[in-house]
Amino acid sequence: MTVRPENLERVLFTEEQVAARIAEVAAEISSKYRGRELKLIGVLKGSVFFLTALARALTIPVKIDFLAISSFGGNSPGKTAGMVRIAKDLDDPIHDEDVLLVEDIVDTGFTTRYLLQTLAGRGPRSLGICTLLDRSVRRIVQVPVDYRCFEIPDRFVVGCGLDFQQLYRNLGYIAVLNPEALEADRR
Ligand code: PRP
Repeated sequence: MTVRPENLERVLFTEEQVAARIAEVAAEISSKYRGRELKLIGVLKGSVFFLTALARALTIPVKIDFLAISSFGGNSPGKTAGMVRIAKDLDDPIHDEDVLLVEDIVDTGFTTRYLLQTLAGRGPRSLGICTLLDRSVRRIVQVPVDYRCFEIPDRFVVGCGLDFQQLYRNLGYIAVLNPEALEADRR
């Protein structure tokens, strides 16, 4: 599979729309946490692009840390069946800190639920979640989403950190993958 334009069906959100919306959400977060220091926790790998864009748009002091999870038991590309574990943990404790979990997408909610439960057990002062995309139509477990940039339909999307076969993460826009590319991958 190569990175070919015909693999993309259409652009869902342009680079300009993504940047503008991130700026809006960043302003909201900066206002909410004014006078405090915020630790952003990115979930590798998808959230990296969004986390850096968000961090640069925030006007409050920010620290960053990353973790990686692995999901198992799923039978569709990249998807979970509720089984999640931490494959790479944070470098530092989060005790008594204001923490914002940063995701590229909240889908079934399994990953978010697991991470919120795990991080809450480490005694942060506060814990919230901010996601670039919310595909709530696929939600299986309910999770609180404090900040979302875009709600999306039930389609496979790539760009801004989201991948298909590890490709397309570096697109500056969000695009819908051509269903034929997905079908070819399943064959
Ligand atoms: C994506 C995303 C979330 C998770 C959300 O990660 O970054 O962590 O799926 O799905 P859920 O709500 O159904 O649990 P993915 O497994 O695709 O890994 P990646 O970030 O490395 O692409």
